[in-house]
Amino acid sequence: MEKKRRLIIDCDTGSDDAVALMTAVLSDQFDILAITTTHGNLPVKYTTENTLRVLELLGRQDIPVYPGCNEGMVKLLTPGRMINPKIKAISKVIDGKEVAIHDRYLDLPEAVTKPQTEHACSFLLRTLRETKEKITLVPLGPVTNIGMALRMDPSIAQNIEGIVVMGGGVHEANKSMAAESNFFNDPEAAKIVLECGAPVVVIPLDATKSVSLSREDAAFMAASGTKAAKFAADLVLHRIEAEELLGFSDNGKNALHDPLTVCFLLDPTVITDLWHCACDIDLGGGRADGQLLCDMRPGEKPTLPTYVAMRGDKDKYLKMLAEVLARGN
Ligand code: BDR
Ligand code: CA
Repeated sequence: MEKKRRLIIDCDTGSDDAVALMTAVLSDQFDILAITTTHGNLPVKYTTENTLRVLELLGRQDIPVYPGCNEGMVKLLTPGRMINPKIKAISKVIDGKEVAIHDRYLDLPEAVTKPQTEHACSFLLRTLRETKEKITLVPLGPVTNIGMALRMDPSIAQNIEGIVVMGGGVHEANKSMAAESNFFNDPEAAKIVLECGAPVVVIPLDATKSVSLSREDAAFMAASGTKAAKFAADLVLHRIEAEELLGFSDNGKNALHDPLTVCFLLDPTVITDLWHCACDIDLGGGRADGQLLCDMRPGEKPTLPTYVAMRGDKDKYLKMLAEVLARGN
């Protein structure tokens, strides 16, 4: 039997993170060593609790969860860095009720399992230093934890098989007029990760928006009737409705970003346009702060193994999600 790919998932759970976690666990194709949690969609207190709730839904309390950093490496220390008139809020009080893309708590029973006491950064540093076999990292939020570990010991990159990260946008943005939320929230960490030397596949908004899901797609996803499938479909419907109420609906469709990383690892052909190109991050502190920059000029030769996904196969993506989420009970 082929050896399972060894994964550490770093996430800010988070509605789409929850679907990514369920897909990774239920696929049974990975040896998930741990999940580390980060800030982003919500403070770490909530992203950790939500991660534990998802694992309990799947009966996988054996996967350890390490809480990580609650803010970016240095961004908030730079005066004026977050003051950008075009920053979009992902929650708002409408008619006295809070409407959010990511509710503080996922609608699942409170977790009984406790998180690990070791910090995510120290876990990553220790594990990536000591491992005999390479590990794949799947960051689904701001990459602070991984950036910090790489900053403490850049040589751990040699034990990283690859990094498949959801972040950035080439022709797309969501947090500011130039930047995507995960990279916007910790641009320095994103740059460190992109330049660490291990193979990095970036799954930006361009790819995730090309596989946006509709209400009909959510119904297709729920059809198996398993707990995971119904929960994932409810999250898609919640995201569609929240985007409509918040006024940034994309024709009633929602880009379920994070699971595309996991689907790419399961079947790379779900991405139909992958570029090998040099990547950088704007750290200027102005309107473009946190923007992903990809050098796609003809003739420019990238020196690092950085790849950017520009498009996905929506039908394949939906079928993969529905099939994997149909597992379990
Ligand atoms: C990314 O930001 C978060 O809101 C989502 O969970 C996803 O990881 C999309 O920009
Ligand atoms: Ca996320």
